[in-house]
Order: sequence, then C-alpha cells, then structure tokens
Amino acid sequence: MQTAQSKRSTLKLAALVLAGFAIAGLAACGKKEEAAPAKALVVGTDAAYAPFESQDAQGNIVGFDIDVVKAIAANQGLEVKFVNTPWEGIFNTLAQGDRDLLVSAITITAERKQTMDFSNPYFDAKQLIAVAEKSTVTKFADIKTLKVGVQTGTTGDDVVQGLLGKDSANIKRFESTPLALKELEAGGVQAVVADNGVVENYVNNNANFKFKTVSDDSFTPEQYGIAVRKGNTELLEKINKGLAAIKADGTYAKIHAQWFGGKK
Ligand code: ARG
Repeated sequence: MQTAQSKRSTLKLAALVLAGFAIAGLAACGKKEEAAPAKALVVGTDAAYAPFESQDAQGNIVGFDIDVVKAIAANQGLEVKFVNTPWEGIFNTLAQGDRDLLVSAITITAERKQTMDFSNPYFDAKQLIAVAEKSTVTKFADIKTLKVGVQTGTTGDDVVQGLLGKDSANIKRFESTPLALKELEAGGVQAVVADNGVVENYVNNNANFKFKTVSDDSFTPEQYGIAVRKGNTELLEKINKGLAAIKADGTYAKIHAQWFGGKK
C-alpha cells in the first residue's frame, strides 16, 4: 500500500524522468543538426560532350570533367551533385544561383570572364574541322563557302563566324555538338567545327560514317576552366587548391589516362 506522500514522490520522480528525457531529446536534436552534412554544391554540365561529360546507359553523368571535379571535391571535403544542363543558358543558371559551379569543357575567354570567374586551366584544347572522308577540304579557308555546323554559342561558333561572317546563312547552329556531327553524316552540312577532343571521340566511335579531321594553324589554343559565380572567391580558391593537389599527387594523370588512353 502506498501512502499519499510516497505517491506524490513517485509522481515527482516520474515528472523529473520525463523532463530529463525531454532535455536529452532536445540535446540530441541539436547535435543531429550540427552533424548534418553541408548542402551539396550543384554542378551544371551539358552532358552531351563525350568524353568530357555524357550520360551512360543508366543515365549517370560520367566523363573526364566529372572525375576531375569529383577528385577536387574529395580533396577539399566538398560535396557535389551533377545536374545535366543544356549548353544554351548554362551560364545563366550560374548567374541566377541555380548552379554553384559549371564544368562543361568551357573555354576560358575574355568575354566570359566578364560575367563569371574561372579556375586555373585544367585542360588544353583546339578547334578541329570534321568533314566527310571524300571531302576536298584541307584547311579552314576551304569551308568558307560551305554549310558549316556548330554548337550554338561555343568557341567553334565564334571561329566559324570569323570566317563566314556573323550572320552567314551557311552557319547551321545546333543545340549539341553530336547533333551537328549527325547532320554532317546526313549531308545537311559539309563541315563541323568543334573542340578537338569531342570531334575525335565522335569520329573514332562512329562506324556508320567515314569522317576526316582537318586542323588549321589559325586556330588559337584554348584552355578549359571550371566556372563559379563572379566574386565567389571562397569556392574558387578551394577549386584551385584541389586542382593543384590532384595534379601533384597523380590523380589528375590517372583520370586523364582513363579517358584519353594516356595520350596528351
Ligand atoms: N569549349 C567550347 C566552348 O567553351 C565548347 C564547350 C561545349 N561544352 C559542352 N559540354 N557542350 O565554347
């Protein structure tokens, strides 16, 4: 039999225990919040640009650029999430804050530097002309009177504008470089001008059509950079540090060999 007093003290004890649980619970919540991983950085990439960025059969975004950014992120303790983003408008997604960085075989140009900041260069590239094997084209000037396919807003587009004129009706613009090359196969254009790595990859992996590639000394060397929003120096510094680290420790060379078979 419990006395009234012992009943009261049992109640008190129960109240204390409950209060204790409540405090412990709150503390646990607080801790959980502290330990929550930082929000992943959103990386925009136009994944129709093998071997730099493309989608595999399962829809995963893969490629040289992807592995480079993953390695930089791992080195710097950053979390990244890749989002397929059409090339047209890709720079806007960065400016608007929908993407935190862009990796998309983006050539560093003076014009682009006005609206975004670039990492140190991570890859050298050059324009390359693709024509049918039977074509008589042997130099850039030879395509002046031909229908030429380019990816809209790329450095290939710029270079071709320089030869054919900005508003030339002979420039056929496509939303992706593979689409421009498909049109060359179909005969809708007689040449395509695009980054060497992508043209070579397409030509080597496409048995349906016989291509020939033509380089030209007038094409100026290009360098790819990772883009961040203008003024985001904190992120830019981490990217540059990570890039230097993966170059120094051999990770970059490994990734390069994986996607380009060791040849430069
Ligand atoms: N390097 C060229 C440029 O910056 C083409 C890049 C296109 N990249 C892509 N993923 N579609 O203009």
